[in-house]
Amino acid sequence: MYRTHNCGELRIENLNTETTLSGWVQKVRNLGGMTFIDLRDRYGITQLTFNMEVDKDLCEKARKIGREYVIKITGNITERSNKNKNIATGDIEIDVKKLEILNASEVPPFTIEDKTDGGEEQRMQYRYLDLRRNPVKRGLILRHKMGQEIRKYLDTNGFIEVETPYLIKSTPEGARDFVVPSRMHKGSFYALPQSPQVFKQLLMISGYDKYFQIVKCFRDEDFRSDRQPEFTQIDCEMSFVEQEDVMNMFEGLAKHLFKEILNYEISYDFPVLSYDNCMENYGNDRPDIRFGMTIKNISELVKGQGFKIFDEAEYIGGICAENCGEYSRKMLDKLVSFVKRPQVGANGLIYVKYNKDGTLKSSVDKFYSSEELKKWADAMNAKPGDLLLVMSGEKAKTLSALSILRLEMADRLELRKTGTFAPLWVVDFPLLEKDEETGTFHAMHHPFTSPKNGKKDLENPKPEEIYANAYDLVINGHEIGGGSIRIHDTEMQAKMFELLGFTKEEADEQFGFLMNAFKYGAPPHGGAAFGFDRWVALFNNSDSIRDVIAFPKNNAGKDLMINSPSLLDQSQLKELNLEVTE
Ligand code: AMO
Repeated sequence: MYRTHNCGELRIENLNTETTLSGWVQKVRNLGGMTFIDLRDRYGITQLTFNMEVDKDLCEKARKIGREYVIKITGNITERSNKNKNIATGDIEIDVKKLEILNASEVPPFTIEDKTDGGEEQRMQYRYLDLRRNPVKRGLILRHKMGQEIRKYLDTNGFIEVETPYLIKSTPEGARDFVVPSRMHKGSFYALPQSPQVFKQLLMISGYDKYFQIVKCFRDEDFRSDRQPEFTQIDCEMSFVEQEDVMNMFEGLAKHLFKEILNYEISYDFPVLSYDNCMENYGNDRPDIRFGMTIKNISELVKGQGFKIFDEAEYIGGICAENCGEYSRKMLDKLVSFVKRPQVGANGLIYVKYNKDGTLKSSVDKFYSSEELKKWADAMNAKPGDLLLVMSGEKAKTLSALSILRLEMADRLELRKTGTFAPLWVVDFPLLEKDEETGTFHAMHHPFTSPKNGKKDLENPKPEEIYANAYDLVINGHEIGGGSIRIHDTEMQAKMFELLGFTKEEADEQFGFLMNAFKYGAPPHGGAAFGFDRWVALFNNSDSIRDVIAFPKNNAGKDLMINSPSLLDQSQLKELNLEVTE
C-alpha cells in the first residue's frame, strides 16, 4: 500500500497513530542531528522528521534525498513543538520509521514554489513541473469546479450535453480555420470548428430543445492574453426562445457561478446597454463599468475657436480623471507618451487642470480662455481638483484611444478593484460591418444571426444600419460570451448570404445542408457561447487565460514542451499527397 492518508489530511486528532504517506519532496532541511522533509502531494504538505540519534542510517538516507524525489514513508504522527499556522497540517509531523525512494529526480530547472525563479518560457517547456506549483494547481481546480457547477446548472434547467464533430467543414466565424488534410480524399481538407455553431442549430431542428457542450474550438487568429488558438466554450442553444429568454437563462448561470464559486451574491438584474451607448460612452463594446469616468463628446463645444487640430477633427472627446488636477508636468508628459504608443494610437493629448482654487490651466491656453475651459469642465462634470484629458481625430480611432486611456487612468486611481464584479449585457449590435476599403460587408457576429426587425430589415439600402438580435455578456471589461437569435428560414438565410457577397452557388455549396434543413420544420431558436477559459481566468484573477489552461500555447502559438507545430516527415507528406514549398 502506498498510502493510508494524503499529505494534506492529518491533524492533531490523528496523534499517536501510524501513517503511510507518498509524495514529492518539496524541501530537505538539516538542523543539527535532525533532518526535516516537506512532503507534498496535490492535497498539501506534511512535515517528516528523522533523528540522527534514533536511527543514524535512516537519517543519512534522508539527507541524500533531493527536491522532487518521489518517496514513501511510514511513521508515527506526533505533535509539532514549533507549529506552522500557514499550513493545514502545521500542528503535526511524522516521526519516520521507514523510508522508500520510489523514484529519484534530477534537480528541477526551476523551484517548485508559489513564487518561482522560472521564466515563462522555461515553465512552458517543463509545464508538467509548473503544474505542480500551487498557483497553477489552484487555477485548474477552480476550472474543474466551475465546469461541475456549469453542468449542474444547465442539467437542472433541462439542457442535454451533445458532442459535435471536430473534423468538419469551414464555418465562417470571422477567424481563419485550422485545416486537416484527408489521406483518403486526396487534395481535400477537413476544417477544425471555430465553434459548433451550425451543429447546435441542426440539433434544434432535430428537436433537442436545449443543448450544451463544454467544447474545444479552434481559431487561427492573432495572439492576445485572452486568446488561444484552441480554447474552450460553454456552448448553448435553445428552441422557442426570444432574446430575453436566452439572456435570462444565462444571467441565471452567471449568478449561479458567482454564488457557488465565489460566494458573491448578485441580487440585481444585470444592466443592459446598447452597443451604440457603449461605443459613445466607453469607447468599446466591452466596457468595465465598475467605475464611471465615461467619455464625453465635446466636439460642438470646442470647434471654431481657431485651434486647427480641433477644427479639422471629426470628433473631440475626453474623460475627467477625478482628483488628478495636481498631476505634474512630468506625469502629464508620461501620459502623452502613453497615448502615442501604437497600441493606443492617438496623435496627442490635451489636458485641462481644474485647480482646487477654481482656476483652469490647459495645454491649449493660447486658444481657449478660462471661461471657455470652464464650459468644457461643466460638460464633463468636473469639479475643482480634477483633470480633463481630451483627444481628437477620426471618431472611431479617437474613441478607441480614449477607451484605453480610461482604463489606464482607472488603474492609476485603483478603481478596478479585484474581488468586485460588474456584469452587464450589451445588445443591439450592428448586424453587419462594412469594410471601408472594399465596400463589402462582414457579419459582425456570424451569418446566422437574425436582424432585429425581421426580413424587411434585409431590404435596407444601407445594410450597415441594420441592428441584430445579438447580445454579449461582459464582466469587468472582458467579453465573456455572446450569442444571438438565429435566422430559421431558408429565404432569409439566403438573403443574408447575398448581403455578405456570396453567390447563390457559393452559399449552396457551403451551406446548402443548413438551408435545406430549414425546409423541414426549423423551430425559432437562439443561443450563446461563453469563453470558459476567460471566465475561469476572471474568477481566478489571472491576467492571462494561459494560467488556467493545463497545456497552453505560448504567444507565438507554440507548445514548447512537445515542440509543436513541427515538420512532418517526407513519408507522411507523401501519404497525404502534400508538398511543402519554400
Ligand atoms: P464568439 O465568437 O463570440 O461566438 O465566441 C464566444 C466566446 O468565446 C470566447 N473566445 C475565445 N476565448 C479564447 N480564445 C479565443 N481565441 C476566443 N475566441 C472567442 C469569448 C467569446 O465571447 N458561435 C458563437 C456563439 C453563438 O452565437 O452562440 C461564437 O462562437 O469569450
